[in-house]
Amino acid sequence: MAEKKWKTAVTQHIEHETYVRGYRLLDLVGNLSFAQAIYLILKGELPNEAESKMMEAMFVSVIDHGIAPPSVIAARAVASGGNSLNVGVAAGVMAFGSAHGGALEDAMRFMQEGVLSGRPVRDIVADYLSQKKPVPGFGHRYYKEFDPRTKRLMELARLYGFYGKHCEFAQQVEEEIFRQKGKRIVLNVDGAIAAVASEMGFDWRLGKGFFIIGRVPGLVAHVYEELTTEKPFSKRLSAEETQYTGVPPRDLPEGYRKV
Ligand SMILES: CC(C)(COP(=O)(O)OP(=O)(O)OC[C@H]1O[C@@H](n2cnc3c(N)ncnc32)[C@H](O)[C@@H]1OP(=O)(O)O)[C@@H](O)C(=O)NCCC(=O)NCCS
Repeated sequence: MAEKKWKTAVTQHIEHETYVRGYRLLDLVGNLSFAQAIYLILKGELPNEAESKMMEAMFVSVIDHGIAPPSVIAARAVASGGNSLNVGVAAGVMAFGSAHGGALEDAMRFMQEGVLSGRPVRDIVADYLSQKKPVPGFGHRYYKEFDPRTKRLMELARLYGFYGKHCEFAQQVEEEIFRQKGKRIVLNVDGAIAAVASEMGFDWRLGKGFFIIGRVPGLVAHVYEELTTEKPFSKRLSAEETQYTGVPPRDLPEGYRKV
């Protein structure tokens, strides 16, 4: 058969039946959990029991983190401007960047390349700190001693057999940052998921996908709440909350005034 312009190995239709990664969709419905189906569609194969439980735990751990993160502020502000649910949720997803959510991709790459390189953790951390670059997957606005979600995920990683070289690397990096900086910069939930997902053999380029899949239910709940319980335009700042830092009022120069 001649090669076609659009190709996919994800899903196909044969005579009104849908097959996802080769499995009949209707066989999956009722037999797979949502997290198992996500594993299948991302990895191409069915998860075993341990992989299924770990996937469930990772997604649940990031389902929401309150009203303060940039993505929820963006989602609710855009919804409050008079937009529909999908527009608000999309705005929230667009806020996932290197400091929030998107760090998962950077952290997976950092951990996978770090483990593969075999370089001493001491040197890897020193490179980041000397260049004043944030080590991806570490640090948190609220959690200064430890991130409770990380603690739980690491316990589960041990329980399900995913506490391997990437998790060890991540925890060594945390200790090494503390040793070199004299300050605890915690392994955050993005970093913990990054370590476990790397352990499970996922490509770092899927990192943001993990955060998107886990957090979108939270964004949907926030935007729905905004639309159903708040007045439009409620997400604005009062004069007391803002400060003007520009030049004082001035006259338009000669030659610019036409009328
Ligand atoms: C999340 C983040 C923005 C919080 O930053 P923050 O609120 O400024 O953190 P703190 O105020 O606790 O920073 C304290 C110190 O640690 C440093 N620090 C914070 N995160 C660091 C990191 N990941 N790597 C190295 N140093 C870091 C800061 O530069 C600061 O140094 P200083 O005291 O010498 O000025 C930051 O940690 C970060 O960018 N982390 C990497 C991205 C990431 O994993 N994001 C996901 C968050 S869930």
